[in-house]
Amino acid sequence: MSQGTYVLTGQASELDRLQLQSRVWEPAGRRVLTQIGDGAGARVLDVGCGAMGWLRLLSEWVGPEGSVVGTDIDEDMLSAADTFAATEGLRNVALIEDNLFATDLDPGSFDLVHARFQLAPLGRAEEQLATYLRLVRPGGTVILEDVDPGSWHFLPPAPAIEERMIPLVAQAFETVSDDPWVARRLPDLFRDAAIEPDVSAEVQALEPGHPYQRLPLQFATALDGLLRKLVDGDELDALIDEAEREIAEPGSWGLTFTLVQAWGNRPS
Ligand SMILES: C[S@@+](CC[C@H](N)C(=O)[O-])C[C@H]1O[C@@H](n2cnc3c(N)ncnc32)[C@H](O)[C@@H]1O
Repeated sequence: MSQGTYVLTGQASELDRLQLQSRVWEPAGRRVLTQIGDGAGARVLDVGCGAMGWLRLLSEWVGPEGSVVGTDIDEDMLSAADTFAATEGLRNVALIEDNLFATDLDPGSFDLVHARFQLAPLGRAEEQLATYLRLVRPGGTVILEDVDPGSWHFLPPAPAIEERMIPLVAQAFETVSDDPWVARRLPDLFRDAAIEPDVSAEVQALEPGHPYQRLPLQFATALDGLLRKLVDGDELDALIDEAEREIAEPGSWGLTFTLVQAWGNRPS
């Protein structure tokens, strides 16, 4: 499947999941922007921004003289992002419905283009990077972020989640995406476009009770139909019950997947 279709579209829970996720990873994004430098006055783009994405982060980075465009193909995502921007008073943010594979945005019109969790779900990494490079001005920066699941663990270990649920969810992603672990080849993706990137990686420790610890269970719910094709229904129900028990265990810390971040400049 994949080839440009986002499999979780149309699920109300997806909006909440994306907003929580965006909040969790904001400090990681801020660290990249700090390394890139001063963004005051820049015009920047968050492609497929979803319900929040990097909108608040970029708004803060470019300041009142700058401007942020967030695009998405999905109306509900844009509506949630619009409500978020209004609630947060992000006056320099504009939201536009746009399909990245047939974009109406002007080439070379951004100082920076960011895309998170876009390559793996859509599975057309080379084409996607080429589009982002076309949209950024010569010398401007493209930032890509995607998921490497290797660090996804609990402290102390939660065997049902770690050894059975996460591998099952990973298997489901492998059936819907042609390139689920594209994060592992982000440096090569840039090099193939004749750009030597900077690369960073982030893992978050989630305190007991942190809602983002539930991510494997949220994916299991969102991908329920698919998981039931991969595993017997009763077995899946028992696994979900066991995972719920592990999550509820007092004092359990979570470690996230690894967020791989790579960025580079379009040659001048
Ligand atoms: C996994 S979500 C990531 C959202 C956001 N970047 C974030 O990190 O929170 C993928 C997003 O890409 C959007 N999307 C899917 N296909 C798209 C396309 N062809 N053009 C623009 N956005 C698209 C989806 O609607 C969804 O909001």
